[in-house]
Amino acid sequence: MEHATAPAAWIMLAYLIAGVCFILALRGLSSPATSQKGNRYGMAGMAIAVGTTMLIEAPVPPGAFLPQPTPADLATLIRILIAIAIGGGIGFVIARRIKMTDMPQLVAAFHSLVGLAAVMVGWAAYLNPIAFGIAGADGIIEAQSRIEMGLGIAIGAITFSGSVIAFLKLAGKMSGSPIMLPGRHVINLGTLAAIIGLVGWFTQDQSVWVIGVVTALSFAIGFLLIIPIGGADMPVVVSMLNSYSGWAAAAMGFTLHNTAMIITGALVGSSGAILSYIMCKAMNRSFISVIAGGFGAAPEAGGGEAKAQRPWKRGSAEDAAFLLGEAEQVIIVPGYGMAVAQAQHVLREMGDQLRAKGVRVKYAIHPVAGRMPGHMNVLLAEANVPYDEVFELEDINGEFAQTDVAFIIGANDVVNPAAKTDKSSPIYGMPVFDVEKAKTVMFIKRSMGGVGYAGVDNDVFYMDQTMMLLADAKKMVEDIVKALQH
Ligand code: TAP
Repeated sequence: MEHATAPAAWIMLAYLIAGVCFILALRGLSSPATSQKGNRYGMAGMAIAVGTTMLIEAPVPPGAFLPQPTPADLATLIRILIAIAIGGGIGFVIARRIKMTDMPQLVAAFHSLVGLAAVMVGWAAYLNPIAFGIAGADGIIEAQSRIEMGLGIAIGAITFSGSVIAFLKLAGKMSGSPIMLPGRHVINLGTLAAIIGLVGWFTQDQSVWVIGVVTALSFAIGFLLIIPIGGADMPVVVSMLNSYSGWAAAAMGFTLHNTAMIITGALVGSSGAILSYIMCKAMNRSFISVIAGGFGAAPEAGGGEAKAQRPWKRGSAEDAAFLLGEAEQVIIVPGYGMAVAQAQHVLREMGDQLRAKGVRVKYAIHPVAGRMPGHMNVLLAEANVPYDEVFELEDINGEFAQTDVAFIIGANDVVNPAAKTDKSSPIYGMPVFDVEKAKTVMFIKRSMGGVGYAGVDNDVFYMDQTMMLLADAKKMVEDIVKALQH
């Protein structure tokens, strides 16, 4: 027995180290400055966890410390390594090719695979419980394992179908508008209640129809839950599905008696839930209202059309360069359009030039600017914008009143004062930058017709102190940089 406990301690230690690596990874990822280090911790933790798991299954002969795999074990190991090489290779190529603006749909696609993996592991354990060590020789699965299995399969299936819909909506392969079924709340609640009831039933009756219906209903509810949610709420949904995929993995970790999987699943589950909460708060949306869906429907045409007739002023790159060069302080507010135009590098160049002229330059980042959490931080970091010039909403919002130029580049919703004043606006209540308090507002976008994600007009376009710089963001900033050199 002594020998049996030694490897267990060794395995537990390896899993503990992997768990610590994952916690350090999450900590590192909380700031752009440490995110690369965080990623490395994550990779190291995953390598330790996967490597240890592969070694566990090989028997440890009495007297030995390390496992001595049999030829059959080696054959399995080779199959696993081939699968890792294929999956890892595909992931590597996709990750290298993906554009930053397509990242949210990639994350959704990856989550769908996590969900599907949980369903498959659950079914594998159900079909072969003795091999998984969750049933005696009679094949009767332990009650506790049945609950874990049922929940893991249910959460995994919801994650899968929900993530597929999120992917299709974010990738524009399906309309981003909410699709509202009549009586959907009743249908959804009824289906959820049926799933919970059947998982309970499964503890008493191991029949295949019970777990089969749980799987089918869970696939259906994932689909039903996500189709009524509009595109604007989709990143919250992706983060929520991320959380689900973590809980599915944790449930499977219990079924497989794998501590690393339980730790990892719980970390993913809880961090995803916290991120969803933070995003909801930043958009001033309650979590329940996101889940209930309906946000992001086509806006009522009325307001926008009337406002399009209002006078506004157009400026040129030279006008902008002159005013920027004369300013004492400039606050740059980047948004989704900067990401689309990939204007971050030339923007940093502009910032450097202004600083060389003695202008104080700051970057203001809204928590939901762009299309995913930290979107702007990542792009500015990529362009080597110093971290100490980048400020969060609450830290800089008080400064607009003492700022000469608020330079808005490809942002719209996050600077829309309607969020503060217009109760009928879909973004009402979302905290926004007080750009209208700056002496001059420069607004880069391609046309007056284009609206932000929420699809609403913006009063800032029509203010006396606003200069509209209508062009592609990169082109406009390049022209400003040229004009600043003269
Ligand atoms: P948006 O409100 O989406 O505005 C983007 C602006 O960029 C538009 O005015 C668009 O106008 C302009 N634009 C697009 N391409 C451009 C280009 N190539 N050059 C210049 N301008 C360009 O962006 P935002 O202010 O960053 O707000 C983000 C929105 O997404 C919020 O409503 C937020 O709630 C939502 N959202 C974000 C997240 C996260 S986590 N970031 C999650 C969910 C939802 P033109 O078409 O006229 O150029």
